[in-house]
Amino acid sequence: MASLRTLRAFNLVSALPRAHQRSLVSSFVAAKRFKSTTQGLKERLSELIPAKQEEVKAVKKAHGSKPLGEVTVDMAYGGMRGIKGMIWEGSVLDAEEGIRFRGLTIPECQKVLPAAEGGDEPLPESLFWLLVTGEVPSPEQVKLLSAEWAARSAIPSFVEELIDRCPSTLHPMSQFSLAVTALQHESQFAKAYQQGIHKSKYWEYTYEDSMDLIAKLPNIAGRIYRNVYKDGKLPAINPNLDYGANLANLLDFGDKKQFVELMRLYLTIHSDHEGGNVSAHATHLVGSALSDPYLSFAAGLNGLAGPLHGLANQEVLRWTMKMRDELGSAEVSDETIKEYVWKTLRSGQVVPGYGHAVLRKTDPRYTCQREFALKHLPTDPMFKLVSQLYNIVPGVLTEQGKTKNPWPNVDAHSGVLPQHYGLVEQDYYTVLFGVSRSLGVLSQLIWDRALGMPLERPKSLSTQIVKKMFEGKN
Ligand SMILES: CC(C)(COP(=O)(O)OP(=O)(O)OC[C@H]1O[C@@H](n2cnc3c(N)ncnc32)[C@H](O)[C@@H]1OP(=O)(O)O)[C@@H](O)C(=O)NCCC(=O)NCCS
Repeated sequence: MASLRTLRAFNLVSALPRAHQRSLVSSFVAAKRFKSTTQGLKERLSELIPAKQEEVKAVKKAHGSKPLGEVTVDMAYGGMRGIKGMIWEGSVLDAEEGIRFRGLTIPECQKVLPAAEGGDEPLPESLFWLLVTGEVPSPEQVKLLSAEWAARSAIPSFVEELIDRCPSTLHPMSQFSLAVTALQHESQFAKAYQQGIHKSKYWEYTYEDSMDLIAKLPNIAGRIYRNVYKDGKLPAINPNLDYGANLANLLDFGDKKQFVELMRLYLTIHSDHEGGNVSAHATHLVGSALSDPYLSFAAGLNGLAGPLHGLANQEVLRWTMKMRDELGSAEVSDETIKEYVWKTLRSGQVVPGYGHAVLRKTDPRYTCQREFALKHLPTDPMFKLVSQLYNIVPGVLTEQGKTKNPWPNVDAHSGVLPQHYGLVEQDYYTVLFGVSRSLGVLSQLIWDRALGMPLERPKSLSTQIVKKMFEGKN
């Protein structure tokens, strides 16, 4: 069996008992074949958990005391860049290549994940299935998941009232975080914990909460959008539609076929970016205290609302429109744009949408959105401007010489697409990012509970102690 040999070669299974080796190999083979026989997600997950628990036990037994890398003083002062200190199963980010979801690149996901009937883009439901199980679901499994999320989508009336009472001047992300925190009232995990459940059951309640929470997000996001920018009236979730189509409907863009496809793609590609980014790490950290999925994800949303993280997609469009307005037109020379970029840098601001803490090449999430634009809106003036910036900004940032990565990230492109279809309210864009991010961070939270991940508690030092550690040493 070649696959067993491959796994053994990587020393992944040799420490496991024979029976578990077989089940691990069959799940590996299943992942390669991208098929599973069981229909429901929870059922499939409960089949996969024992083998994964054994795998982790074996990895810890075989390699537990070995170092993963070195930690330098610069790393401790430098936002912990490059420190390998966390396990994240759903996705891994390579500095050159970009993200892979369970081993699949974005173009591969676009190829193999089920799309809607008559659509091209992957359904976010299928990406969630992939993140949770490592397997590509069948179209029937995806349909079941769409129906299950629609069935779980209602939000309690007190949460509706809470959103309705927010002033329209309260940032949509603050409203979003507030509503998710309030939904904690519904947490099955918190109730079960109070009643004293066994540790081995944690994942099941985390799963139920995560499914409920993901399902309810379009109703929250739609309500915020309609309250802040429209007349506050909201249609009901359609149980026959998929998640992206329902979200598009709630935003009042459901009649635009391309916008619906955009939502499906957007929700898929913004879902996960390994574990160290602020929203993922914050969710994981708070979750490690056994705070339930609602409280944990609210923490992630608060991090996503920062301008160096998810809020950058709002900042990009604002900055680009300000540039267009100041320069008097979207059609300006490269030289004029170059000068504008330098002006931003000289005023001590960052160029939003460029740079990344890990990536060192153009973000494939940028490329994928660019391809969507080339296919559907090649003549949009803002898209043309964004393309022009792509040709200019990396050169300026390289010339300035500070940024480790002069290339665009996901946010450099994510605003220009919704604005084309009329969703022009930039302050709202990070909410869409937040809906998508739930898929990645909550699938990991389920695994955190299944694998019994402990309270997260890294060690900190004071500057005084760092100085003392190296006293008399060069
Ligand atoms: C994403 C980001 C926070 C990563 O930060 P980082 O890992 O510290 O990046 P670097 O190590 O390359 O930073 C080195 C220097 O370059 C600067 N730099 C990085 N990206 C920059 C950008 N887009 N424009 C101007 N300067 C930038 C940093 O501010 C830093 O300056 P400093 O030494 O004066 O503090 C940073 O690139 C950034 O602020 N980008 C713009 C905001 C954005 O698009 N965020 C979304 C990320 S997905």
